[in-house]
Amino acid sequence: MIGTLRIQGGEPLRGEVTVRGAKNLVPKAMVAALLGSTPSTLRSVPEIKDVKVVTDLLSLHGVTVSKAPETGDLELDPTNAAAALHADIDAHSGDSRIPILLCGPLLHAIGEAFIPDLGGCKIGDRPIDFHLKVLREFGAEVDKLPSGIRMTAPKGLHGAKIDLPYPSVGATEQVLLTATRAEGNTELRGAATEPEIMDLIAILQKMGAIITVQTDRVIHIEGVPELSGYNHRALPDRIEAASWGSAALATGGDIFVRGAQQADMMAYLNTFRKIGGGLDITDEGIRFYHPGGKLNSLIVETNVHPGFMTDWQQPLVVALTQADGVSIVHETVYENRFGFTGALNEMGASIQLHRECLGSVPCRFGQRNFLHSAVISGPTPLHGADINIPDLRGGFSHLIAALAAQGDSLVSGVELINRGYERFVQKLEGLGARFEVVAEVAE
Ligand code: EPU
Repeated sequence: MIGTLRIQGGEPLRGEVTVRGAKNLVPKAMVAALLGSTPSTLRSVPEIKDVKVVTDLLSLHGVTVSKAPETGDLELDPTNAAAALHADIDAHSGDSRIPILLCGPLLHAIGEAFIPDLGGCKIGDRPIDFHLKVLREFGAEVDKLPSGIRMTAPKGLHGAKIDLPYPSVGATEQVLLTATRAEGNTELRGAATEPEIMDLIAILQKMGAIITVQTDRVIHIEGVPELSGYNHRALPDRIEAASWGSAALATGGDIFVRGAQQADMMAYLNTFRKIGGGLDITDEGIRFYHPGGKLNSLIVETNVHPGFMTDWQQPLVVALTQADGVSIVHETVYENRFGFTGALNEMGASIQLHRECLGSVPCRFGQRNFLHSAVISGPTPLHGADINIPDLRGGFSHLIAALAAQGDSLVSGVELINRGYERFVQKLEGLGARFEVVAEVAE
């Protein structure tokens, strides 16, 4: 796998890329297959690291995961699901947070689950307290071991009344994956309603689940004793689509993102247009382009759906360094998601971080010690630098910055980007980016 790239910046990215199934849906859809009594088929599966991690974890638990050679579609057969060794689970979890979502389905399938210490991107503490509370409410017994957390359900799992203190994506998925086969009814209040969650609900409905999404973030689930497999095409990755949109804007380019879906990207498209980006929205995808002239500065606040996604923020910040005037980005989902801006400043950007909430959205981080508001002054020409990629989305923004900058950049840690952007090096090549591979790293 590619580890370090030398990028010769200053060339607009032009051409077409295709986005496939969403990184934040596909691994969970794979986990859902464990709930079925017959095999499932998942289509439009991207070649990214999180898919490999879940494939390994499911295989360890006796699920047969086969990939169709032509299409990459996955068939997942859970009929021989079985317990796995804790050390093996630990060794195959990588730095993914997905193992926590296996708990409910594993408790239903085999009566026990184990979660090793969890990783994921380094964006704040990323605790799992909501998940553990939810699982206990369904009747799981949680034992903390030196190597991780072991869970059992000696009396089976039963429906529960759950109120999430924050509309967490993962905790909502935890409830859905656990409640569908729990005995009786579950009421979830404070649910997240991201399009990826709606797609997971669609999958569960295909399997036989009875789930009602009501207004005001309330979801009702009527437990059923058995579910069958599903056949589903994953919704397209709206984070990848927006990342290429911001890349087009930051480099003064023109990218058609085949597969991008307007309905799931409304908040991003509004922002893109307000900055002054050009859009052609079609049934096949969306063309994002820099129409020439000045870009406008603006105020953006990240939020849960239907707000502006936290994962759209980082590539957009690079485009905002090229906008005319002062822009503000208020990050309200994660407390520590501006670490990547240090490298942008080294490249010539002018980004200042503040602890105060610079926005109107009520935010949990306001009176605390978190640098979660960014003030970006532009336009600032960017120049090449040596950068080490910190995390997935921040890393993609570094790549864009290096492509937009004048001169050479040496970008290391590029393998992290493979967690969420499939074949991105080939895609960059297709868009006319100028770079050479300097070092490879083991997978
Ligand atoms: N939170 C808690 N306790 C919990 C769970 C979450 O305090 O038990 C907090 C988090 O610390 C965070 C907030 O709640 O401040 C939201 O976290 P959420 O649970 O919604 O995030 P997640 O499910 O862990 C998913 C995506 C993230 C994406 C967020 C928000 C996956 C695998 N990850 O994370 O994606 O940013 O939802 O949309 O689906 C990425 O793709 O780069 C990425 C980080």
